[in-house]
Amino acid sequence: MSRVSYLFFLVLFLLFCHVASNDPSSILPLDRQHQGHSSLAFSTTWQILGPFQIGTREATWGADPLEYSGGFRQLQYDENAEFRSSLPSNGNAKWQIINATQTSSTASSANASLSVSYSNVDWDFLKLVYGWAAVQYQAWARGEITVTGNETQSVILYTDAILEFRVDGVDYFGGDFYTYRKAPPVLHLTPGTHEINVRLVRDVRAFGGILKPTIDVLLDLRATSGTLELAKPGILVSDMVDGKLASPIASVTLRNTGENDIEIVSIQPVDVRTPVSLHGLVSQVVLAQSPPALTCSQTKTTSFTSAVYSVTLVAGQTRPVDIVSLPAFNASLIYFTITYKAVNGDGKLSFLHVSQNLTKRSTYDPHKVTYLHPGGMVSYAMLRAPAKNATCSPGKKKLPILLALHGAGLEADNGIVAHALDPVADLCSWVLFPTGVTPWSGDDWHNWGFTDVEAAVNSIPSWIEHVGWQGPDVNINRWIVTGHSNGGQGTWFSLTHRPDRIVAAAPISGYASIQKYVSYELWQPMDPKRTSIISGSLNSYRHEMLMENPKGIPILQQHGQIDDNVPAYNSRLLSQQLFQAGTNSSYNEVPGQNHWWDTVMTTPQLVDFYHKQTASNDTIPRRLSEFSFVVGDPGDMGSKGGITVTHLEDAGQYGKVYVKGRIIRTVNILGLDFDPQIWAAESVTVDGKELELADMLSVSRTTGSWMIGTVYRTENDTLHRSSRQLGAMTAILRTRGPFIIHHQGNSQTAHIALQVSRNLHQYFYADSIITSAAVDNTKYTGNVITVTIGEAPPSLHPDFPIHVNAAGVSVRDSRGGIHGYTKNDTGRLGAAFLRPLKGERLELVLWGTDDFGLAMAARLVPMLTGVGQPDFVVLGESAAWRGVEGALSLGFFDHEWGVTASSVLS
Ligand SMILES: *[C@@H]1O[C@H](CO)[C@@H](O)[C@H](O)[C@H]1NC(C)=O
Ligand SMILES: *[C@@H]1O[C@H](CO)[C@@H](O)[C@H](O)[C@H]1NC(C)=O
Ligand SMILES: *[C@@H]1O[C@H](CO)[C@@H](O)[C@H](O)[C@H]1NC(C)=O
Ligand SMILES: *[C@@H]1O[C@H](CO)[C@@H](O)[C@H](O)[C@H]1NC(C)=O
Ligand SMILES: *[C@@H]1O[C@H](CO)[C@@H](O)[C@H](O)[C@H]1NC(C)=O
Ligand SMILES: *[C@@H]1O[C@H](CO)[C@@H](O)[C@H](O)[C@H]1NC(C)=O
Ligand SMILES: *[C@@H]1O[C@H](CO)[C@@H](O)[C@H](O)[C@H]1NC(C)=O
Ligand SMILES: *[C@@H]1O[C@H](CO)[C@@H](O)[C@H](O)[C@H]1NC(C)=O
Repeated sequence: MSRVSYLFFLVLFLLFCHVASNDPSSILPLDRQHQGHSSLAFSTTWQILGPFQIGTREATWGADPLEYSGGFRQLQYDENAEFRSSLPSNGNAKWQIINATQTSSTASSANASLSVSYSNVDWDFLKLVYGWAAVQYQAWARGEITVTGNETQSVILYTDAILEFRVDGVDYFGGDFYTYRKAPPVLHLTPGTHEINVRLVRDVRAFGGILKPTIDVLLDLRATSGTLELAKPGILVSDMVDGKLASPIASVTLRNTGENDIEIVSIQPVDVRTPVSLHGLVSQVVLAQSPPALTCSQTKTTSFTSAVYSVTLVAGQTRPVDIVSLPAFNASLIYFTITYKAVNGDGKLSFLHVSQNLTKRSTYDPHKVTYLHPGGMVSYAMLRAPAKNATCSPGKKKLPILLALHGAGLEADNGIVAHALDPVADLCSWVLFPTGVTPWSGDDWHNWGFTDVEAAVNSIPSWIEHVGWQGPDVNINRWIVTGHSNGGQGTWFSLTHRPDRIVAAAPISGYASIQKYVSYELWQPMDPKRTSIISGSLNSYRHEMLMENPKGIPILQQHGQIDDNVPAYNSRLLSQQLFQAGTNSSYNEVPGQNHWWDTVMTTPQLVDFYHKQTASNDTIPRRLSEFSFVVGDPGDMGSKGGITVTHLEDAGQYGKVYVKGRIIRTVNILGLDFDPQIWAAESVTVDGKELELADMLSVSRTTGSWMIGTVYRTENDTLHRSSRQLGAMTAILRTRGPFIIHHQGNSQTAHIALQVSRNLHQYFYADSIITSAAVDNTKYTGNVITVTIGEAPPSLHPDFPIHVNAAGVSVRDSRGGIHGYTKNDTGRLGAAFLRPLKGERLELVLWGTDDFGLAMAARLVPMLTGVGQPDFVVLGESAAWRGVEGALSLGFFDHEWGVTASSVLS
C-alpha cells in the first residue's frame, strides 16, 4: 500500500502528567502470571569440559575440537574421560564440576554467574611463547534451568560474554559477547527442567590480557509478558536545546515476547487519535479507540504532518521502530501509545505506553542529536556547537568539525566521552562525538560504524535548520579527527580511508589492527593460501599497511608509556611507518601513564594541536605533487589527492597507486575516478598510457589497457560489482534501509532468520524485516539475506558462478572449471556467499543441505570484527572442528562476479 500523509496534533504532557502506568516494568502482567506458584532457577552446579585452544575471533568458524568427538551435546559427564587438548598438562582435558559463583532465583527471574579457570595450564609460559593469543581458550559448560509451577513461562535469556549456547537441543549462535543486552532470545519454557549448554570462549579484547585468564559469564532469565514489550525503557530522542528538540527523529525498541507475530498499527501521542509516522512498510492506519486517558495539569499542542506505515515483529523479534517528524517543540516529556494486534488474530487491538523525560541542554554543551543511520534505524551523536567566544579568525564563516571517537564499551552520552573536550571549550570548530551506533562502535568504526560517523556529520546542517541556529555554519568536508583506544584505531581508519576530508588527526592510545592487538597465532592449522584469504578479507582494517594514505596530513600521536591494555608498541609501529611514508607526524609518548587518565584527551600537546588545527587554513583536499596510497577495499575507501580507486583487480590483494605530477603508476587496480576540483581538463599518464581527462574523469583497464571510461555502466547493472557491493562479506552491512531476511516458511529456516535478525540488532542495533513472502523490491531498499535449505532462488546475474540445490553446491573457478560438492559424497554442506541485486544492493545467501549445514553457514553473517569472511565460503562438516581448513572452497569475486584466481577450491 502507498504512503499516506496526515495532519494532526501532537499533545505533549509537561512535567506534571500522571505517568505511573508508563513505567515499563509495571506494564508486564507478571503478578498475574507468577503469583506464588511458579519460579525460575538455574542449577548451582555445572559440568564443564575444557580447556581447548581457540584463535582470535576464530570461534565463528567453528573450530571446536569436541565436534570431532560428536559435539559436546552428545557427551555425558564422565570423570574418567580424557579429551586430547593442546593446552593442559598431559595434553588431556577433563570434565569438572564447578559451582556457579552466584545464583539467584525469584518468581520472575533467575541468574547464574560462572567463573571458569584452569590451573592445569601454564598460562605464563604459554604467554611468553604465543603472547596474548595464549590466554584465549574455549570450554563448554552444562547446567539446568528449572521451571516450577503449572504454566509455560515466556522468558528472555541474557547471555553476557557468551557467543553460543544450546537450550533443550536448540542451538543459538551469536549470544551477547559484549554484554549489550539488546536482543536476547525469547524462550517459552514448560514446567520442569531444561538442559542448557554454553560454549565458553575467552577473548582478550573483551576480557583483558593482563589479569588472570578466567572466563566470566552471566546467564540471566527474565519473565516476560508474552506479548509486545519495550525492549529498552524510554524513547531514543534528542535533547532539548535552548527550548527546542534538537532533531525531529526518535525511536522506540520493541520486542515481541509472544508466540504469534505482531503488527504495530500506530504510534500515537497520548490522547490523540491520529498516528505518528513509523518508518517501515505498508501503510495501514486503524484509528483505535482512545487509549487510557491521563490527567494532566498542563499541556501544549503543536501540529505537524507525517506519514504512516506498519511494522511487523515476528514472534521473538526485537526491532527499533522509528518515529519521525517530531516538531521542534518545547516540553519536558514525550508520551506515546503504541497500538498493536496479532497478525492473523481476531483483530483485537492492544496498547503499550512509552514515555521519555527530555533533557534540557545548551547548544554550546555536548547534547544528544538523533538522525537516521543509512540502515534505516535511528542513531545518535553528541554535538557541541561552536562557542560564542570561539577563537576564530575574523571572517571565518564555515567551521570544521572536530570528531572525537570513543573507546570500546562506552556510550557517547557518557560524561567520560562527551565532556572529555570541555577544557577546550573555545575551539573554532564544531565538536561531534559519534557513537558508531553501539558502545563498540558497531564494527570498531569500520563499515557499519564509520557509516554512522558520516551520517552524524551529515546531520549537522539539518540540526542548524531545525533549531534555527544563527551562529557560524559548518563545513561537513573538513574534519579534525581524534579518539582514544578503539576510537584511536577509528582515527587511523579515518586517516587511511578518508584522507581528502581530514585537516589533521590525533590518534590516542589506539591499536594498529586487530591482528597487531592480539595475534592470530593459535588458530587451527590451515593451508597458508587459506590464511591469506582470511587475512585478505581484513585488508582494509590493517592500518600498518596503509600508512602512505595520510601523507600531507598533520598527525599528532599520543600513547601512555606503560599502557597494559593497548601496548604502546602499536603507536610506535605506526609512527615508524608514517616516517617511512614521508608523512609529517609527531609522536608523544607520555611517561608513567597507562591506558586511560583523566586528561588523556587534553594533554598540553593535544590542546595546542586542537587549537592550531581547527584554525588551519589548508585547502582540503590537499594537492600533493608526489604521493602514493594503498586500498584494501574500494567500497570503503574515499579519494586521496582527488583520486578514487573504483575497483581492484584481485579483491584479496592490496591495490596501490603512485602519483608524481600527472604520472600515475598502479598495482592491482582496474579503475580510477578523478575529482574535478583537482584533476579537471588535464591529461594523465597511467602505467605509461597517456589519457586526456576531458568530459569523463574516469579511466579503466577492463579491456586490458587503460582507457577513458568506467568499469561499470549503470546502477542497476547486475553484471558488474561496484561501490557499496565491494569488499568482502562485510559489504552486506552497507545496506540502505532495514535488512530483509527471507526464509522458506519452515521452522528451521525461520529459526535461523530470527537468529540473524537478533545478531544484527545485538551487535549493530540494526533493523531487519523477516519474511517468507516474495521480496518486493519496489518496496524494500535494504540488502537481502536469504536463508534457505536445499534450493535457492536463481541469481539476477545470468551466469553466477555458484549454484546450490538439494543435492549440493557447485563453484566455477576462474578458468571455468566446475567444482561440485554433493551431500552424498561430502556429507552435510553449508555455504554463505554474496550475490548482486539491482541498485548496488547485495544479497547474502545462507544455504545448507539441511539445518546443520544452514546453521554452519549462518555463523558467517558479519557480526564480530576480525573473523575474516571472504565473499564466498562453502563449508564441509569438518569445519565444526577444523575451522577454516574445513571449508571446501572460499575466496573472492571479481568486478564481474567471477571467482578470482586467488580463491581456494578443493
Ligand atoms: C559446591 O558447593 C557445595 C555446597 O556449598 C560444596 O559442598 C562443594 O564443595 C562445592 N563444590 C565445589 C567444587 O566448590
Ligand atoms: C541476579 O539476580 C538478583 C535478583 O534479581 C540480583 O539482585 C543480582 O544483582 C543479579 N546478579 C547479577 C550478577 O546480575
Ligand atoms: C496446578 O494446576 C492445578 C489445576 O489447574 C491447581 O489445582 C494447582 O494448584 C496448580 N499448582 C500450582 C503449583 O500452581
Ligand atoms: C521523569 O521526570 C519526573 C519528574 O522529574 C520523575 O518523577 C520521573 O521519575 C522521571 N522518569 C524517568 C523515567 O526518569
Ligand atoms: C569561552 O567560554 C568558555 C565557557 O563558555 C570558557 O570556559 C572559556 O574559557 C572561554 N574562552 C575564552 C578564550 O574566553
Ligand atoms: C587563516 O586565514 C585568515 C584570513 O586570511 C588569517 O587571518 C589567519 O591568520 C589564517 N590562519 C592561519 C592559522 O594561518
Ligand atoms: C534502478 O532501478 C530502480 C528500481 O527498479 C529504479 O527506480 C531506478 O530508476 C533504476 N535506475 C536506473 C539508472 O536505471
Ligand atoms: C544420493 O544418495 C541417495 C540415497 O543413497 C540417492 O537416492 C540419490 O540419488 C543420490 N543423489 C545423487 C545426486 O547422487
